[in-house]
Amino acid sequence: MDIRTIKTRAFSDQRPGTSGLRKKVTVFSQQNYLENFVQAIFDSLENIGDRPMVLGGDGRFYNREAVQVILRIAAANGVSRVVIGQGGLLSTPAASCLIRERGAFGGIILSASHNPGGPDADFGIKFNIANGGPAPAEYTERFYRCACEITRYQIVEAQDVAIDNTGESRLGGMAVEVVDPVADYAGLMEALFDFDRIRALIGRDDFSICFDAMHAINGPYAAEILGRRLGAPLSALMRDEVLTDFGGGHPDPNLVYADQLVARMFSDDGPDFGAATDGDGDRNMILGRQFFVTPSDSLAILTANATRVPGYADGLAGVARSMPTSTAVDRVARKLGIDCYETPTGWKYFGNLLDAGRITLCGEESFGTGSNHVREKDGLWAVLFWLDILAASGKSVAELTREHWREYGRTYYSRHDYEAVDASAAAELIDTLRAGLPTLGGQRIGDLEISNGDDFAYTDPIDGSTSSAQGIRLICGDDARVVMRLSGTGTEGATLRVYLERHVDDLNKLDLDAQTALADLIRFADSIARIEHFTGRKTPTVIT
Ligand code: G1P
Ligand code: ZN
Repeated sequence: MDIRTIKTRAFSDQRPGTSGLRKKVTVFSQQNYLENFVQAIFDSLENIGDRPMVLGGDGRFYNREAVQVILRIAAANGVSRVVIGQGGLLSTPAASCLIRERGAFGGIILSASHNPGGPDADFGIKFNIANGGPAPAEYTERFYRCACEITRYQIVEAQDVAIDNTGESRLGGMAVEVVDPVADYAGLMEALFDFDRIRALIGRDDFSICFDAMHAINGPYAAEILGRRLGAPLSALMRDEVLTDFGGGHPDPNLVYADQLVARMFSDDGPDFGAATDGDGDRNMILGRQFFVTPSDSLAILTANATRVPGYADGLAGVARSMPTSTAVDRVARKLGIDCYETPTGWKYFGNLLDAGRITLCGEESFGTGSNHVREKDGLWAVLFWLDILAASGKSVAELTREHWREYGRTYYSRHDYEAVDASAAAELIDTLRAGLPTLGGQRIGDLEISNGDDFAYTDPIDGSTSSAQGIRLICGDDARVVMRLSGTGTEGATLRVYLERHVDDLNKLDLDAQTALADLIRFADSIARIEHFTGRKTPTVIT
């Protein structure tokens, strides 16, 4: 085998964000850019041993090229076996599942999640550790340090490896095992949910579903699981072909970007259940006929109904939500008498809690829900969970959700994003807010009063690691919150996220429009943070 050592110069911008290293394709395709970062990963890892590595991506532009480079660098760095999804494809949750099932030392996932794909759009690379979850900060900081100091990388000189058929081949001393990207994951889903019950529901004449894969990775997963195994008709699957540019769309399952699905669900004779997942298949949006379930409510409802599902019939150890996610699930946890943890934004913070058995379900307001079955959020898992509790309860999405509100009250929720704003102005906005925190207590927001404000900090209860400056919180007791933070996943300027939440117990006020119910808080956020002054924007780019 011809291993070559290539001299290189470090790039200064290879610090991973909330979810791996994400850049424009034009940045990644610069000479040595991808090579450097992959070598930095291998330089940082210890004890690879004989364990395999998992590799796959969401099928976006540059996926196929990147896979070949990674295989050659892996072979040169002593990896004994790579398990790769056929065609270089793996959804993020399926990669997590494979890492766990195959006892891998980790996996490299190629994705920029919900960001657009194509030659002028985004690409990304993330490393997941042996538990199947995103590399914690101690790893990603090491990757970054190694990337800053890199002077050479090692690569095998070889032809492209054939990845389009399952089977095994060799690249130098490394085995390359091409596997069906769906099979193991589908098996895991079948073990968790009552497929017979869901099949019966989907087969009913008076029940129809619609799943929008947004031309992203979950197309083949949905075709196998919802179609072949659960009997959904072909017409139930929208945009299920994986395209390198996601059909020109923005593969983020929310009310704005999944507008075709939303139009179908909100039409007069729309389906009873609708869902969409994102670029790499880990996010989900749940809809009923003319009904939208907020991700925060979804987490609360799954928690309240978990014991109806075979995989969770014994009950939940605890739950966790990211800090900006609404407190709806906290109320369910209180009633169930289980712990509820509040963690910083990003799935990686759930890993230790899941590994330690402290929590079973977890979620984020950003359309992410998951459990201890893998160490990533999981879009199709959430879809199957919903279908299973609909089948078990015999209720519609809207009935189940309204019943939940009647029992626990409704937590109105919305997130306002100001995308691609000037990065230094956005940082100044947050700094100014932070400086003003001590004088905020007691200020009034309509009929509410701010009880306290802080910059969220978290100490991991398992390993004691701390994360500070995770977002400014303005809290009105148990009734309402405004949270503001800057995104860690954008690739252009900065994105300011404003999270708004208000809890209502009054049974007569459970059916308001969310923006109306939150109007006081929205006005307050605008004025206290001087959003227009700092960003020059009068209105948010995206409201979810
Ligand atoms: C966003 C979401 C966060 C999620 C992450 C990866 O990060 O807000 O909840 O974990 O994408 O999907 P952000 O851009 O806010 O840093
Ligand atoms: Zn994603």
